[in-house]
Amino acid sequence: MERTLLLVKPDGVVRGLIGEVIRRVEAKGLKIAGLKLKWLSKEEAEELYSVHKGKAFFNDLVSHITSSPVVAMVVEGEKAIEVVRRLIGSTDPKSSPPGTIRGDLGLSLTKNVVHASDSLESAQREIKVFFKDNEIYSYDRADAFWLS
Ligand code: CMP
Repeated sequence: MERTLLLVKPDGVVRGLIGEVIRRVEAKGLKIAGLKLKWLSKEEAEELYSVHKGKAFFNDLVSHITSSPVVAMVVEGEKAIEVVRRLIGSTDPKSSPPGTIRGDLGLSLTKNVVHASDSLESAQREIKVFFKDNEIYSYDRADAFWLS
């Protein structure tokens, strides 16, 4: 079973889209193993986006992600990293397909509602920015036996 980090970014939070994002994750059969509202410090934001350090949009990224609390989720499931990336769609909402979170709800490259880890290595690093080990829970979904 794989774990990934999914964030509702400040634009999603202040637009009242927390429930809409969680609804889509749950409807897909994915398990929410950790969940919290957190206001990132500049240092935590720089760690989260460390792979983008030096890029032209890095300062805008850090400034946006620290502009309000974010909702952080540890999402668990088979191939969770790939499944969640497909669920959120591509980075630019204008080219993200309808049916995806960013395609349906995103406004711009920066205000694209959600962030999700793009690899196992990123997932492990990013989950640590938000969660201690004892804040991630194991339990069974009642419909788990229908998943294949
Ligand atoms: P996210 O999945 O959070 O990962 C990095 C973020 O950088 C990405 O979503 C976008 O919000 C943002 N991003 C990527 N490319 C650009 C760009 N060219 N200009 C501004 N923001 C960008």
